[in-house]
Amino acid sequence: MNAKKIYLRSFGCQMNDYDSARLIDLMGTHGYERTNEPNEADLIVVITCSIREKAQEKTFSDLGRIREIKKERPHVRVAVGGCVASQEGRRVVSRAPWVDVVFGPQTLHRLPQLLAERERTGRAQVDISFPEIEKFDHLPAPCAQGPTAFVSVMEGCSKYCSYCVVPYTRGTEISRPLMDVLVECAQLASQGVKEITLLGQNVNAYQGKGPDAKPVDFALLLEYVHDIPGIERIRYTTSHPKEFSDRLIEAYAKLPKLANHVHLPVQSGSDRVLAAMKRGYTHDWYLERIAKLRAVRPDISIATDFIVGFPGETEEDFNETMRLIEEVGFDASFSFVYSKRPGTPAASYADDTPQDVKLARLQHLQAVVDAKAAEISKSMLGRIERCLVFGPARKGGGMLSARTDNNRVVNFPADAACIGQMVNIRITDVFPHTLGGELVA
Ligand code: SAH
Ligand code: SF4
Ligand code: F3S
Repeated sequence: MNAKKIYLRSFGCQMNDYDSARLIDLMGTHGYERTNEPNEADLIVVITCSIREKAQEKTFSDLGRIREIKKERPHVRVAVGGCVASQEGRRVVSRAPWVDVVFGPQTLHRLPQLLAERERTGRAQVDISFPEIEKFDHLPAPCAQGPTAFVSVMEGCSKYCSYCVVPYTRGTEISRPLMDVLVECAQLASQGVKEITLLGQNVNAYQGKGPDAKPVDFALLLEYVHDIPGIERIRYTTSHPKEFSDRLIEAYAKLPKLANHVHLPVQSGSDRVLAAMKRGYTHDWYLERIAKLRAVRPDISIATDFIVGFPGETEEDFNETMRLIEEVGFDASFSFVYSKRPGTPAASYADDTPQDVKLARLQHLQAVVDAKAAEISKSMLGRIERCLVFGPARKGGGMLSARTDNNRVVNFPADAACIGQMVNIRITDVFPHTLGGELVA
């Protein structure tokens, strides 16, 4: 019998990418093979994001296109997971009655049973409950796809920032036990993975059960992962400034495999706005954390997230954000105009700044951050960088692509045998979005 085919699309953050990869592993054990062609799929899965209104709307326009496929081939089953599914539940089926299964971030392991139940009853199935982190006990061992991999260390968020849906869609913070995380990392390392990215909404809130049942913090988890043979580089995303502890900063001094790059979302540089966002820190607190980090890693690259145009943000508040950007010298930012999310406290805050003013602020902010990033790229010219070669370059032509410690892509000519290896590359060209280089023996 031919294998059934699954087509999967994922929107949103790396938590969704991780869940998607694990879902493909799981469905593989139920006879499904992945296809990149929706028109030949038996099962179409959409993993959704609701962080901003636009992301949420993408789900429904995507489902509109899937409806056309299902008209042609009625046996196709459609499953919707991720954060829109979690938030909307049965309403997904009301709005798109051709959907067969709705599952949440903590129930994705139940997809095979939900599909079977759909066949048995002829009715759409919805399960968006939050069973205590049972999903990991029901997923098969991970299948590495190349030399880099994600490993989830904690799920959910308990911070309840006033603008954010995540605590509602993903539930409160729960850490995976230390051994579970280490076993998954070791399984990946044995399949040739060299770089692990530890994942969670706030990984530095990690409090997993350790060897003697006592909780282990994130700094100690990093030490354990550092000891796994084969792992050569460790990244993590995302961490919260409030819990960016001295112990985590000390880890940067102790652990050379810890990448020289950190993503530490600040959201705003104005104390007034930070308080209204319920972030739990100030402009100066953030600067002090960065100063301490730079004391142990002077050339660390720092990326962040900004929300521009939060309700009530004045020109003065925005200038405070621009001041912080000057002071820190961010290397990259994911920045968006505030998007009002139903059910969050900030949705009821007075918001009288015109949208075009917000957009102008965003463009200005992005231009300043981009200029700084370009300056940092230029300073890399001629330097030798330790890089992980992750595959053939997009442009082809016998070129390969590698990633630097500070998260830049370098294209360079080399034999395909280098793929999956850590190599030294001299930077010879600086382009707007990539670097060019040559292998150094
Ligand atoms: N847990 C991480 C971020 C997770 S969400 C942290 O707190 O740092 C990813 C990013 O989406 C956030 O950093 C924020 O910049 C953005 N975001 C979240 N809610 C948003 C909203 N309502 N409007 C615009 N951007 C939002
Ligand atoms: Fe959202 Fe705040 Fe949690 Fe980040 S820390 S996921 S912004 S509630
Ligand atoms: Fe989006 Fe959910 Fe991630 S809302 S950003 S997919 S946690």
